[in-house]
Amino acid sequence: MNIPNKLLAELKRAKSILFFTGAGISAESGISTFRGEHGIWNKLKPEELANFDAFMKNPDMVWEWYQYRRQIVDDSEPNPGHITIAEMQNHFENSTVVTQNVDNLHGRAGSKNILELHGNIERNFCIDCKTYYNSREFQFAEKHVPKCEKCGGLVRPDVVWFGEMLPAGVFEEAERKASESDICFIVGTSAVVYPAAYIPISAKQNGAYLVEINIELTNISDSVDCCLIGKAGEILPRIMEEYLTAIK
Ligand code: OAD
Ligand code: ZN
Repeated sequence: MNIPNKLLAELKRAKSILFFTGAGISAESGISTFRGEHGIWNKLKPEELANFDAFMKNPDMVWEWYQYRRQIVDDSEPNPGHITIAEMQNHFENSTVVTQNVDNLHGRAGSKNILELHGNIERNFCIDCKTYYNSREFQFAEKHVPKCEKCGGLVRPDVVWFGEMLPAGVFEEAERKASESDICFIVGTSAVVYPAAYIPISAKQNGAYLVEINIELTNISDSVDCCLIGKAGEILPRIMEEYLTAIK
């Protein structure tokens, strides 16, 4: 894959860079995406698992599903896509990762300024008194949904479920960063879930150069300036390599 010269030129003069990522960036770490050929939502219905009513109806089942997903995340490692993003961040005065993923792999890869739009599967909180429970022992020891030590309320994962608001202030901060960015990379997302999918639109409206990296065309492909088809874990290192050569 050849990296277009225009993209390298844009990177050379960019001061502010934003990465907007989705499940596809973690696919090469062995974590299933939601949509597409092997997507989780082909087999399971989000309304049966990823919403508050489902949790209240069958908290043990929903908890067990999150235990299972946590185990997968825990057994996986950041891949070259996550690692390259963390490395690229060191080259720009202002850089942000806005992710829809809850797997914390950007954090484990060493990225900074991460805004998690859909929460983080490593955190839990009590639905009644909002006490947070983050320890690994707690997460993995419990087979049934745990009860809050302070008030006895049910403890749920700190992820955004269908029909819920995004964490307060995080989306606004992401939009602000998007509107300031000179380049916005859109990596491994189908860009169909709102309000998250407004982030690249905000970036574009404010003049950012949009680069999409995905294994297939998406809803947003027609609107981007540069569409690179292929795996994030291969294309991102390639961009980094060519960028480092270009600035020598
Ligand atoms: P999707 O599963 O909708 O999309 C994943 C995208 O990654 C697809 O466009 C794939 O083509 C692409 N892809 C797969 N492997 C790739 C690879 N190796 N390199 C590059 N691209 C690859 O996931 P999201 O867009 O993240 O919400 O989904 C958005 C939200 O929908 C999720 O955050 C989740 C879900 O319901 C909540 O849980 C609130
Ligand atoms: Zn409580």
